[in-house]
Amino acid sequence: MCGIIGCVGRGDDTLDTLVHGLSKLEYRGYDSAGIALAGNGSIQIRKRAGELDRLEEALGSENDLSGTIGIGHTRWSTHGPPTDENAHPHADCTGSIAVVHNGIIENYQSLRDELEADGHEFESDTDTEVVPHLVEAELDAGASPDEAFRAAIDRLEGSFAIACVLDDSGSVFVARNDSPLVLGLGEEETYLASDVPAFREFTDQVVYLSDGEFAELWADGWRVTDASGDRIEKSIETISWDPEDTGKSGYDHFMLKEIHEQPRALRQCLRGRVNELEGDVTVPELDDLELERVHLVAAGTSYHAAVYGSQLLCAAGIPAQAHYAHEYAISPPPLENATVVGVSQSGETADTLAATREARRLGAETLALTNTVGSTMARECDKAFYIRSGPEIGVAATKTFAGQQTALNLLAEAATPGLGDRDLVSALRDLPGNVQEILDESDAEAVAEAYLDADAYFFIGRGLNFPVALEGALKMKEISYEHAEGFAAGELKHGPLALVTSKTPVLATVTGDGEFARKTIGNVKEVEARDAPVVAVTDRRSDVARYADHVLDVPGTHPRVAAILANVQLQLVSYHTAAKLGRSIDKPRNLAKSVTVE
Ligand code: F6R
Repeated sequence: MCGIIGCVGRGDDTLDTLVHGLSKLEYRGYDSAGIALAGNGSIQIRKRAGELDRLEEALGSENDLSGTIGIGHTRWSTHGPPTDENAHPHADCTGSIAVVHNGIIENYQSLRDELEADGHEFESDTDTEVVPHLVEAELDAGASPDEAFRAAIDRLEGSFAIACVLDDSGSVFVARNDSPLVLGLGEEETYLASDVPAFREFTDQVVYLSDGEFAELWADGWRVTDASGDRIEKSIETISWDPEDTGKSGYDHFMLKEIHEQPRALRQCLRGRVNELEGDVTVPELDDLELERVHLVAAGTSYHAAVYGSQLLCAAGIPAQAHYAHEYAISPPPLENATVVGVSQSGETADTLAATREARRLGAETLALTNTVGSTMARECDKAFYIRSGPEIGVAATKTFAGQQTALNLLAEAATPGLGDRDLVSALRDLPGNVQEILDESDAEAVAEAYLDADAYFFIGRGLNFPVALEGALKMKEISYEHAEGFAAGELKHGPLALVTSKTPVLATVTGDGEFARKTIGNVKEVEARDAPVVAVTDRRSDVARYADHVLDVPGTHPRVAAILANVQLQLVSYHTAAKLGRSIDKPRNLAKSVTVE
């Protein structure tokens, strides 16, 4: 949801450092990209609508760009269409102040009216452009650069991570409220970014900014202050993952790489947390957590994991419900001693943060179940439980959904000490190997090929396979742009069956041989009778394969783990469908990975 980058002290490498950083942040938005270089008493701005390569093409033909202080931006449009004019950075009237911004300035219209009445001229439709003009007005009134920056920020309402450079100062000014911002500390240079991968190649030393904090960065130093300019002591943290973890490692797409990383990601998630001898689970982060009742709040794929988790907790005797975070934030149900668990890969999703904040305001204990160490949610909640999937760059969440499902199993087990399910623990131990088996042997590509001309794709499942159906459909629609819906299998006959034709393949997940499987097979027969092709995702413990046109196998295992495995097959079907249709898999249209606006 927009990515910002900045660096000071990179000398002749400043431009390359910014472009490299933007390439690592493109997952946050790719409607336009731009940079500003400062440091020679002037500011040079270059920006282009479209993906980063359009900016790179434009930069390639210019060799007059120089400057040792720089900021950059990759955009996911909120105010104004993706045009060159609306691309960041934005400048003031004199072209001596440049700003990049991630977030939404809610009161920008009144600020713009006021500034225009004072004679300021605007060039874009964006909310961001008010910021350089506000800084300009403060400087004109006699403020020093850092005072002018803080005074300008003080006028803003909304969410922002902002970086600002002036033509004649040797530093970058930054401010944060409700949008992520992290500083990187090199030997003789400093960085800022929306996310660590932007500068991880150059340093592993970081400082996470909190809401309401400001920073100024020089080549040889940095300072964090509050709104009054008083210094705030911050701790420096060390990033544990390697720069290569954010590359494609030879895969065509990040999504495919991340699907294939699942065995390793799940091993990391489980490491040190399952005790095979005792058949139980130990998660020190969850010590002292007494779950009387649980509200899981999340969005998108993470919501599907939350639905799965709510079923696990209910089965463990703990009343639990999954909620869309955006709905929860505006009308939370009675808490009744509930612990509120925010499920979020990024830990920065505005909707989910709004929900956990509302829960905290109401006095609930909160837990962040997230992939991102140092994220806002991890820092704001009472406890943080990390899924340890490693960086996920593809916009479509894959390995982190499996990581969330796995971590939610650990949470449910840790919440019921003494009731450990030995079969589950051994199934979790075998999970990474079973995922590998699917990756090695999947027929998903042939399934994708067979239904490329489908009118729509339907996904069905019951119980733990219901969130798998929801997730299968979301993945298909977001990367293939084909219509897809996921249904609880029993719901099909209450309306959606009217949509079923010979051109709407139904992907049915049927695992185990119990009542759920038998009933879902009944639903499979219903769609088959309407000529719909059937793809069964199954461990073949039932006879669903008899009624299917295609079968995608998952190894036989514990029912909870089967739902994790089935999803891997569905990820592959969506991936291959999108690849065969030539879609922009890692950067699907209109989407961005980290949705930091409500
Ligand atoms: C879909 C996807 C999104 C996210 C959602 C929440 O593939 O990635 O639906 O799941 O935006 O994001 P996080 O988990 O970061 O809170």
